[in-house]
Amino acid sequence: MLKGSNNSALLFEKIVDRIYTSSHKQITFAEYMEMCLYDQQYGYYNSRAIAIGKEGDFFTSSSISEDFGELLAIQIEQFWQILDKPTQFTIVEMGAGEGQLAKIILDYLAINNKDFYSHIQYLIIEKSTILKEKQQQLLPSEKYPLQWAKWDEIPSESIVGCFISNELIDAFPVHRIIKKEGKLQEIYVTVNHGKVTEKYGALSTQKINEYLTINNIDFNSPLYPDNYQTEINLYAFDILEKIAQTLKQGYVLTVDYGYDSEKYYHPQRYEGTLKCYYQHRHHNNPYVNIGLQDITSHVNFTALEKIGTSFDLEKIDFTQQALFLMALGLGDRLNNLSDGRILLSKLWQRRNQLHELINPQGLGGFGILLQGKNLNAIHRQTSLKGFVKLDESTIF
Ligand SMILES: C[S@@+](CC[C@H](N)C(=O)[O-])C[C@H]1O[C@@H](n2cnc3c(N)ncnc32)[C@H](O)[C@@H]1O
Repeated sequence: MLKGSNNSALLFEKIVDRIYTSSHKQITFAEYMEMCLYDQQYGYYNSRAIAIGKEGDFFTSSSISEDFGELLAIQIEQFWQILDKPTQFTIVEMGAGEGQLAKIILDYLAINNKDFYSHIQYLIIEKSTILKEKQQQLLPSEKYPLQWAKWDEIPSESIVGCFISNELIDAFPVHRIIKKEGKLQEIYVTVNHGKVTEKYGALSTQKINEYLTINNIDFNSPLYPDNYQTEINLYAFDILEKIAQTLKQGYVLTVDYGYDSEKYYHPQRYEGTLKCYYQHRHHNNPYVNIGLQDITSHVNFTALEKIGTSFDLEKIDFTQQALFLMALGLGDRLNNLSDGRILLSKLWQRRNQLHELINPQGLGGFGILLQGKNLNAIHRQTSLKGFVKLDESTIF
């Protein structure tokens, strides 16, 4: 038997065991997804097989080229300027994957902005042990002003700087709900005839109702058909609360794919947004390839915004990745390709990379939410380089 499938079988046994020992022989989908992705021994993000990039199950902006990270570094540098150049400016990256984004940002600033670089402390908060090891190999502490931290190691209100994440929230385990005979039910995972299957029951936590109220969503409305199902990302509460507790002053920049609440919970989106990625393909069955596939769901940006407000994180702005990168100079990078100093084969590769980052049907359509804490009127009034309003028709 292959090692991967062996691990998958072992994870399956562990999940079955957890289900049998739980009070109603069932676990929430969020618990199931947590085990599939983050089980310390066999979870997808803790397996040796995890690889982010064109060769892996999925790729991200920072695995395509250096442009995303370099342009983001320009925006981060402006945050430092706006905050009056604090002596220590901390960049906290949450969910850093293989560490590429951190490396690109730090390498770029070390060369292009030595003054800012000398004030940077970079912290990574990473849940996966295997990915943390990969990050530590790529980013030796003796070379970079970088450390790894756990939430409880960061003193409260100690961070002046910014929190950043790229495709973190979509990787959080979600609760799933379904409308059955007019009633809102939760989807649980149980075992039947040796297979993991779904069953429905009462909501496992009152927080689901709170989440829906915050988002102004009422599934009792006749607009929502029977069997309508969707996801609830309660981890968003936890992460925003932790950010708000540790941030003294500064910004929170979240890059991910998703919708506002109205689109997310549109009655026509009756199957939700849950997706699995396995060997370059996506499908929607989370009960196969256990521990071998990525499972994700789209991000509800309205929820992040509203939950953030309840923790004193105010919304500063929202844009799309394509507009953000163009405003920060991706267009100039595209124009510079035609100066004749680049080999034709390389030119096509570079052009494709840049286009991929701004493709509105793909990465370019990602949302970028900017929140802030303890910013004064002057901070708020400063026009942010990446959020300058561009005419979309000139880009797409
Ligand atoms: C889809 S990957 C994105 C990786 C990287 N940001 C990139 O753009 O390539 C999700 C990352 O978030 C990490 N992660 C998931 N939940 C986390 C949590 N609660 N705290 C810290 N990291 C987490 C995963 O281990 C992984 O590194």
